[in-house]
Amino acid sequence: MRDKQYLMIPGPTPVPAKVMEGIMAPPIGHRTPEFGQIIKEVTENIKEIYQTKNDLFILTSSGTGAMEAAVANFVNSGEKAIIMDNGNFGERWVKICDRYGVDAEVISGPWGEQADPKALANRLNQDKNGEIKAVFVTHNETSTGVLNDVKALREAMGDHPALFIVDSVSGMAAAPLKVDEWKLDVVVSGSQKAYMIPPGLAFVSVSDKAWSASDKVKNPRFYFDLRAAKKSYDEKYNTPYTPATNLVLGLQCSLKMMKEEGLENIYKRHNYFKNIVRTAVRALGLELLATDKAASASVTAIKKPENIDVKDITKIMRTKHNIVMAGGQGKLKNDIFRIGHLGYVHVNDIIVTIACLEMTLKELGMNVELGQGVRAMQEFILKGDK
Ligand SMILES: Cc1ncc(COP(=O)(O)O)c(C=O)c1O
Repeated sequence: MRDKQYLMIPGPTPVPAKVMEGIMAPPIGHRTPEFGQIIKEVTENIKEIYQTKNDLFILTSSGTGAMEAAVANFVNSGEKAIIMDNGNFGERWVKICDRYGVDAEVISGPWGEQADPKALANRLNQDKNGEIKAVFVTHNETSTGVLNDVKALREAMGDHPALFIVDSVSGMAAAPLKVDEWKLDVVVSGSQKAYMIPPGLAFVSVSDKAWSASDKVKNPRFYFDLRAAKKSYDEKYNTPYTPATNLVLGLQCSLKMMKEEGLENIYKRHNYFKNIVRTAVRALGLELLATDKAASASVTAIKKPENIDVKDITKIMRTKHNIVMAGGQGKLKNDIFRIGHLGYVHVNDIIVTIACLEMTLKELGMNVELGQGVRAMQEFILKGDK
């Protein structure tokens, strides 16, 4: 039965039935006052998740589009920037900045560890003339299952005038990110992650400081020109070009669900799933890539057992058990596999995943006792620990 599939990747995540109802509604006119009100409501609700009063825009694109918008609108070609890079998505900042001719200096950290605030502070302290115009960081590094300490990274900047630009595509609404309190200038996130809707929408917040910088930016930009987004929003709560209306209708439903649950409870749920997965992985004798302190609430990266191919694990999980898990990315492609636990995931989905992982590993020749991981999880759940 192919249609019963468990989506245990770090996005796209499963979508609740209520949200699918919104998405499947007959299309509505995107220039009507009714749709304007929906954009307004949805924007205000996303701002609550961002914990910001800054401008926030809905883009019809995947998360990478919003990342590109963050570079195109706020950093001039030829200007200096720093990129904190400790994974595949840190590298994406590097690639985008490169295409836009940004003079980016990369502070690389080991994959599987958190980006180092001290390294950032040291570099910025040397920049006495304020030549560095922006610092790019990744909140949740999906490729390694590491949650970077964005608050500490921002604090490491002190009062250096550079913009602080954050990719929170897989972190937003899974782990705390306080945009205003932490003074984050530009923050991007994506629909297919903790928002529980399919891919296709991205969100970007813009501080006043970032708007001032954008006035001086000369990069060519059209679709992702955020000044156009602001104009449409300010005039009529609208978007400059046709938005993915039905995704917005789905988002309206998912944001209502998220509001009912409450942001703190959403964080707790993701954290709980992280702990359950880590308990099971340890009980199976497998090694986690990230330490407890660095571990992501959205996705867990697991080192592959010796003599077993990552591809074989994900293939058997997918073809025999209908569970889609992720392999590694970039330089860790064949070294780790990843279980996503963000968005519309239920604890039972995790139990099933671990049970099938045990069968898969046994089939591949690993010495595991069936039930070893599941039992540890059951005990963890019954203990009532979070
Ligand atoms: C941290 C992070 N940044 C950026 C992206 C890119 O988003 P998209 O694939 O929606 O373009 C992803 C996607 O998984 C991500 O996890």
